Amino acid sequence: MKAYLVGGAVRDKLLNYPVKEKDWVVIGETPESMVAQGFKPVGKDFPVFLHPQTHDEYALARTERKTAPGYRGFVVHASPDVTLEQDLIRRDLTINAMAMTEDGELIDPFNGRQDLENRVFRHVSPAFSEDPVRILRLARFAARYAHLGFTLAPETRQLMLEMVENGETDYLVAERVWAELNKALQEKTPSAFFYTLRECQALASVFPEIDQLFGVPQPPQYHPEIDTGVHVLMVLDQAALLSEKAEVRFAALCHDLGKAKTPRDKWPSHHGHEQLGVPVLEQFCKRLRVPKSFKALSLLVMQYHTHCHRIFDLKSATLVDLLQKLGATRQDNHVDDFAKACEADMKGRKGFEQRDYPQRRILLKAAEVMANVDVQEVMQRELKGAQIGEAIRQLRIKAVKHFLQTEKSQD
Ligand code: CTP
Repeated sequence: MKAYLVGGAVRDKLLNYPVKEKDWVVIGETPESMVAQGFKPVGKDFPVFLHPQTHDEYALARTERKTAPGYRGFVVHASPDVTLEQDLIRRDLTINAMAMTEDGELIDPFNGRQDLENRVFRHVSPAFSEDPVRILRLARFAARYAHLGFTLAPETRQLMLEMVENGETDYLVAERVWAELNKALQEKTPSAFFYTLRECQALASVFPEIDQLFGVPQPPQYHPEIDTGVHVLMVLDQAALLSEKAEVRFAALCHDLGKAKTPRDKWPSHHGHEQLGVPVLEQFCKRLRVPKSFKALSLLVMQYHTHCHRIFDLKSATLVDLLQKLGATRQDNHVDDFAKACEADMKGRKGFEQRDYPQRRILLKAAEVMANVDVQEVMQRELKGAQIGEAIRQLRIKAVKHFLQTEKSQD
């Protein structure tokens, strides 16, 4: 059988990156001959098979022709006469359009290796524009490889601009947008995903809530970077340094959405942005069908990040009520994730990157103090309903107050 390693596996091998999954393309075979050799058919939209031992994916070489807008509007032609080159030319980027034999010989008709060495994202053919997901994929690769210095080829930027102008991105469905965003959030430099989309003007159509933060000024004494769009993407990258979790990174990205809603005559102040952002976030999550765990943490970070920054000035009661909202007394609470997103907010400002953020430690300690309060004695009192909850709250306030005073006296 003539089988070639293709796609991401070849790209990552050449980049000395760990190869996650191996995809193969097969020339000269039919579905029947594959099954006869023990392969298991799995493809819905085109013929793909699993290797009986390695379980790698083997696809028959195919061509694709666009017949209608959207994802399903492709006619797929897979037959033994389709050549390797024909299969490679239908692919998105030159760095993804290389093949390798089992002996490691590279087949590279579109100079993918050179683009990889020059750190360039370049489309293979005008067929790139037939699939708007490719814009998101390219932006996601930018987030993954930004530290290597990749740039967008001018002709690819131009093609993506035209796709956006022609309304191609309107065909993106929520599931695919969320899937790509979720993956991009888990990459090394998630901000590059958004900057790449902005470069081809796709940000305004795909993520208008983020796009609208650009051009909104903030007070220079707290935000030397001034622009809110720049700030939230700095916060996003700081969150990526502090946490592996996509939920924390998403919360960091969304925490200041309300700043786009501040009336212009109030700029650069953003009084009340914590609440102004709530309906924006609700709508954003609804539109993209963002999972509940992401939304829950984001709402907390959006509404209470300034509480965390001001933790040393908060009343003990306010802190206890915040910790209650973070579920501090439960095992699966949000305290650590919340505190990391708040730290990212403070460090995601020009010149603030190395600053200490003692608030995070204090919040975590206060949560521990609150969770360890012995509430048994309340049960012994003759209290009813809401009185019980209030009595427990008071005990916790007392304990947290004592903790905060001890902390202050040690300063
Ligand atoms: N591909 C494409 N257009 C798409 C999706 C995929 O041209 N919209 C091609 C690319 O050649 C890609 C290959 O199919 O390399 C495999 O796709 P996939 O496994 O989704 O991506 P990878 O490039 O392997 O990247 P990742 O590391 O994210 O899996």
